[in-house]
Amino acid sequence: MPDRKRFFLTTPIFYVNDAPHIGHAYTEVAADVLARWHRQAGDDTWFLTGTDEHGQKILRTATANGVAPKEWADRLVETAWKPLLDTIDISNDDFIRTTDARHEEGVAVFLQKLYDEGHVYAGEFEALYCVGCEEFKPKSEIVDGTGAFEGEKVCAIHSKPLELLQEKNYFFKMSAFQDRLLALYAERPDFVQPASARNEVIAFVQQGLEDLSISRTSFDWGIPIPWDDTHVTYVWFDALLNYVTAIGYGSDDPATAAEFARRWPGNHLVGKDILRFHAVIWPAMLMAAGLEVPEHVFAHGWLLVGGEKMSKSKLTGIAPNEITDTFGSDAFRYYFMRAISFGHDGSFSWEDLSARYQAELANGFGNLASRVLAMNAKYFGGVVPAAGEEAEADLAIRELAASVAAAADARIETFAIHEAIAEVWRLVDALNGYITEQEPWVLAKSEADRDRLGTVLATATEGLRALAELLHPVIPIATAKLWAALGAEATLGALDAQPIREAGRWGRLPAGAPQQPLAVLFPRIEVETQ
Ligand code: MSP
Repeated sequence: MPDRKRFFLTTPIFYVNDAPHIGHAYTEVAADVLARWHRQAGDDTWFLTGTDEHGQKILRTATANGVAPKEWADRLVETAWKPLLDTIDISNDDFIRTTDARHEEGVAVFLQKLYDEGHVYAGEFEALYCVGCEEFKPKSEIVDGTGAFEGEKVCAIHSKPLELLQEKNYFFKMSAFQDRLLALYAERPDFVQPASARNEVIAFVQQGLEDLSISRTSFDWGIPIPWDDTHVTYVWFDALLNYVTAIGYGSDDPATAAEFARRWPGNHLVGKDILRFHAVIWPAMLMAAGLEVPEHVFAHGWLLVGGEKMSKSKLTGIAPNEITDTFGSDAFRYYFMRAISFGHDGSFSWEDLSARYQAELANGFGNLASRVLAMNAKYFGGVVPAAGEEAEADLAIRELAASVAAAADARIETFAIHEAIAEVWRLVDALNGYITEQEPWVLAKSEADRDRLGTVLATATEGLRALAELLHPVIPIATAKLWAALGAEATLGALDAQPIREAGRWGRLPAGAPQQPLAVLFPRIEVETQ
């Protein structure tokens, strides 16, 4: 048997200073769709997410709320971040917290290695720092404040004043990796995706890399520097390492070390605001430690409100359950993956969500499923009909299914999730057109057309089988209901075990298999108007 393809996928780890909004949920859903697809394809998949708990931002929030930072982090993880995963149906294999012992130990091993091998030195530093970004800002992201911050320098992302920090720090000799990074981007054009993100990263590194301050002494909420416990590790240096500590880096237990060898290198999904950390600092850190760089870093766009990044600090955040309580998690997942080109910014609107829910999920997909199953029940006593000789229209559906399945898989390989869904939707639309044209309700009137009726409904049922498999990563709940109604569980087994790369292969549902009634997949939603 050939080796299974390996696929290790990560989301950023989220700051626990506040509860999640739909911008955070967006990254999670995208990663989840990719992970579910690869898992269903049989790839050796591991999907990691988690929380980023150290640093000044969390410390200040906890202090403002009158609790110790660890207590604050525990509270947010349990009441907000883990529940988010249920709200939007995330199938992560692991959840790492940067306060986990496995992480803190791995970070210490990594830092000590860099120190022992001469990649770290002590120095002095003074620069403008944004606590929101937890970053010394480059000139390009320092702008003049307006309104209450008139006359001050503010962060271009957070629009909040920057703080002048002056400290004795330890530095990572990142500048030494400039040429190797540029060579990496040149040799592996798909290392950073999409192309716009890659160009931005190359331009940034070509301007010249400075060394990176990796420790702090002005507060103590962080991982102590192993050779000098008067310093704690800079929060981003600590956070990036979650991608390797979660899978066993630094462990002296052989089984855990083997896990690391099996999983690494990974694929990172990140918002474009944190691209530089992942495409510049992180690979430089890995090179210094003699580890492989990631397979891919993919930067997605922002959910915008009024043309600006949606954010809690600007009071534009929408909680995910405001949407899922009305529309359900499948619709949430489908909408954001379908309506926004992955890699570009997009605006959320309730009108667009309602319109797509009704037209695409309820009328397009849900209706197709209920019509076909209702006709199987009415004309064939609720079993999968037997197909007779195929006509041109039936063959066209079969061929389309094969081609969209292959095209969708190819799109997923390049992280183009919206295009993968659009490919699959060609089959939804074609099947709806096919039913309209073939008019099975007319064929049902004449015994002479009985064979033809069977072939049409067998073709449509097989189409539903393919759609259930192909859409399972995106709308897991509705497709599971459809799978049960198709009677496929009994004949083909669990839906998430169906080989998605073979979804286009025809004739898998055996004729005569009993089906079940299907509840409405996407019920009509009465929107309250005030
Ligand atoms: N803790 C860091 C990441 C460390 S990874 C080693 C962080 N956390 S965050 O909570 O601020 O953001 C997490 C992710 O949410 C980022 O990828 C960010 O781009 C994403 N989003 C936050 N707001 C967003 C939108 N409005 N739209 C889309 N994604 C957004 O950064």
